[in-house]
Amino acid sequence: MAIGLERFASGELHDYDCVMPSRYHRLDRFLSQQLQTSRSDLRPVLAAGRVSVNGEVVRDRQLRIGPFDRVECDGRLLAQQTRHYWMLNKPAGVVSATRDEQHMTVMDLLPEDQRQGLHLAGRLDFNSTGLMLLTNDGVWSRRLSLPETGLWKHYRVRVDKALSEADVAAFARGMWFDFEKIHTQPARLVIRSAFEADVWLHEGKYHQIKRMFGRSGKTVTALHRLAVGGIQLDATLAPGESRALTKAEQHGVFDAVPEA
Ligand code: URA
Repeated sequence: MAIGLERFASGELHDYDCVMPSRYHRLDRFLSQQLQTSRSDLRPVLAAGRVSVNGEVVRDRQLRIGPFDRVECDGRLLAQQTRHYWMLNKPAGVVSATRDEQHMTVMDLLPEDQRQGLHLAGRLDFNSTGLMLLTNDGVWSRRLSLPETGLWKHYRVRVDKALSEADVAAFARGMWFDFEKIHTQPARLVIRSAFEADVWLHEGKYHQIKRMFGRSGKTVTALHRLAVGGIQLDATLAPGESRALTKAEQHGVFDAVPEA
C-alpha cells in the first residue's frame, strides 16, 4: 500500500485536507496530490479496483475527473464538491464582477460564507438592476451563455422619449453592430406605456439594449432584468438580496419560456 493511502486509511489525512480541483484533472494526478503518493505507487491501487468514481470502479488512471465527481478509495470519500447556484437582485451602482478596486461587486452582496468558488453567469451594466445568477458549476453557466441554447433574457426598460411601433419593428429585424461585425438576432419589444417597454433578447452584447435604443435617439433611463430563461427574479428579494436557487430553477432555466 502506498504511503499516503496508509495515512488516509489510518485517519492521519482527512477528507477536509483534500482540495478538489476546480477544473478537470487526470485521475492519477488528482489521487497523487490528495494522497501525497507517487503516481507509480498508485498503479497497483487502481489495478486492484480500489478506486471508484461516482460509484463505478475505475482502473483507467488517465480518466478526467471534475470538481463534482465523487472519488472514493477503499470506500472512503476523498473529495466531492457540491454545486451551488444563486440568484441576486442586483442594485444600481454595483459592478458585475467578483472583485473591483473601486466599487462594490455583486459578490460582495452574497453571504460571506457562500462566495467561495462562485463565478457570474452573465452580467449587467453598472446601473442596470435585477436578476443576476452566480454558480460554481462551469458547465451550467457555459450552457446558459451558449447561443445554441437560445435562452431568452427578459428586461423591463424605461426610455426618455416616446416609444413607437417603429422601435418594435427595428428590434424584431435586428441591427448591424459594426464594432462586433454582427447582425443582432431578432429581439422582441412590447410597449407597456409611452416610455416603458419589455424587451426579450437571446444575446447579451456589450450595452446591447442601450445601443439598440440609441439608434432611434433614445436614452435608456432604467433597465431591470426580470428573467433568464425559465428563472424569474424572486419578487420578494429586495435590491441587494440573494437566495439559493431551488432544484426546479436550476433545471428549469433551460425550459422554453412562455410567450409574453
Ligand atoms: N443591455 C444593456 O444595455 N445593459 C444591460 O445591463 C443589459 C442589457
